[in-house]
Amino acid sequence: MAQEYKLILKHADEPGYTPDLECYLRHGGYDALKKALALQPKDLADGKKLSAQEQIRDDVKISGLRGRGGAGFSCGLKWSFVDRKSGKPIYLICNADESEPGTFKDRQIIYKDPHQLLEGTIIACFANDVHLAYIYIRGEMPDGAKLLNQALAEARAKNFLGKNILGSGYDLEIYVHRGAGAYICGEETGLIESLEGKRPYPRIKPPYFPAVLGLWMCPTIVNNVETLCNVKHIVAMGGAEFANLGTPNNTGTRIVSLSGHVQRPGYFEIEIGKVTIGQLINDPAFGGGLRPGRSLKAVIPGGSSAKVFKAGEKFKIKGQEVDMLDLPYDFDSLIAAGSMSGSSAIIVMDDSTDIVAALANIADFYAHESCGQCTPCREGSLWMSKALHRLAHGEGRASDADYLVKIADNIPGGRTICAFGEACSWPVQSFVAKFKDEFVAKGKADEERRAKENVESAAASTERKELATAH
Ligand SMILES: Cc1cc2nc3c(=O)[nH]c(=O)nc-3n(C[C@H](O)[C@H](O)[C@H](O)COP(=O)(O)O)c2cc1C
Ligand code: SF4
Repeated sequence: MAQEYKLILKHADEPGYTPDLECYLRHGGYDALKKALALQPKDLADGKKLSAQEQIRDDVKISGLRGRGGAGFSCGLKWSFVDRKSGKPIYLICNADESEPGTFKDRQIIYKDPHQLLEGTIIACFANDVHLAYIYIRGEMPDGAKLLNQALAEARAKNFLGKNILGSGYDLEIYVHRGAGAYICGEETGLIESLEGKRPYPRIKPPYFPAVLGLWMCPTIVNNVETLCNVKHIVAMGGAEFANLGTPNNTGTRIVSLSGHVQRPGYFEIEIGKVTIGQLINDPAFGGGLRPGRSLKAVIPGGSSAKVFKAGEKFKIKGQEVDMLDLPYDFDSLIAAGSMSGSSAIIVMDDSTDIVAALANIADFYAHESCGQCTPCREGSLWMSKALHRLAHGEGRASDADYLVKIADNIPGGRTICAFGEACSWPVQSFVAKFKDEFVAKGKADEERRAKENVESAAASTERKELATAH
């Protein structure tokens, strides 16, 4: 039977484990940092030397670590894009905005094991010659910000941070910055604008790739909370050993947020690709199955912007037909099935779900959160939300399904500055494609009801007129 594999959350949920430094140290905390700082330059066969920083960066590449924030981009590759020759300072930002609906994994780390995040961040900063870093935390997590600030103070007091860290000669300062509660602040360039004190309008890429023109137009690394925690484990166990966890090209573990119509909603850490979507929903170690008497209708596999799967859907993966429930939960299988693992948030919907209302709810969120810079996204997300509202509240039309797809198809594809354009289109495109009959039936029923109401009200009005004339 599939089981959890706890690497990041190994201690966080143990009874008696607390977020303070003393507890973290009792569990081997900051040993990986000490190891990183003690690394000696390595002689290469060609006579060159590999610095401690280069060794860590190489190890992160070897580990195969992919970003846990959404896109699953290789962390080692991202670090290799950093412009190290510009002469400008290099910054690192930990993205703790966590606002993708359905996602509640980063906050487990922040609230239960903040020093683990700090240790991973400090090592990542050391490896990339960063001397100033920020943790950008979602505004709605004030307690998380408080805990992180306490952890930073404790780390400073023990010289895990600050000047000449543990006598290594390396200086680093980290600040916590609270967002004001906008989804777009999670998008890395919007986040950078917000950190600079401006409206979080995402920047256009090119030229504003953070690795080259990021915070204050300096080279900047933006990594997710969970990604940075993994850096600590890569240094502790070595990149090659880390790569043995999970499956090829999908290495390590992931913390999956599971919500919706399951018996045991919650977060579960798994080896990537070693557990299927069906196991996550049904196994007693995970979701524990649907509510009694219910059957599965749909699954959103990677946060609200991921394309929805319909129960019973089959996919061709590596030449084999695979049922949706048998898809391994990893980056590549979900992409091959036409969706994504995104922020690793699974939302389960059983047969009691009104699929039109569910999509209307998602579309409302995107219409509210669009930053408004790009016309297709600003207007399109609003039109979709209005049409869905109409449809969900008895004012629909049979043609609404096609209308929605027409709008959704015209938002992405290079017409917008950031990936929000895709994020708001994918749910509409996939819900309508997979449940079109429900959208059409609802619109048709509304039209028929309105036509009947019109006939009845016309008849009543004629009757009233006739009565008035008769008297
Ligand atoms: C609209 C939008 C919202 C995002 N929100 C988040 C978020 O809340 N947290 C996060 O880590 N990444 C988020 N991302 C992804 C970030 O832009 C960025 O790719 C990520 O932080 C990089 O970290 P990683 O490489 O470690 O995954 C979002 C992206 C988009 C387009
Ligand atoms: S795609 Fe949407 S959220 Fe992104 S910049 Fe354009 S308007 Fe703003």
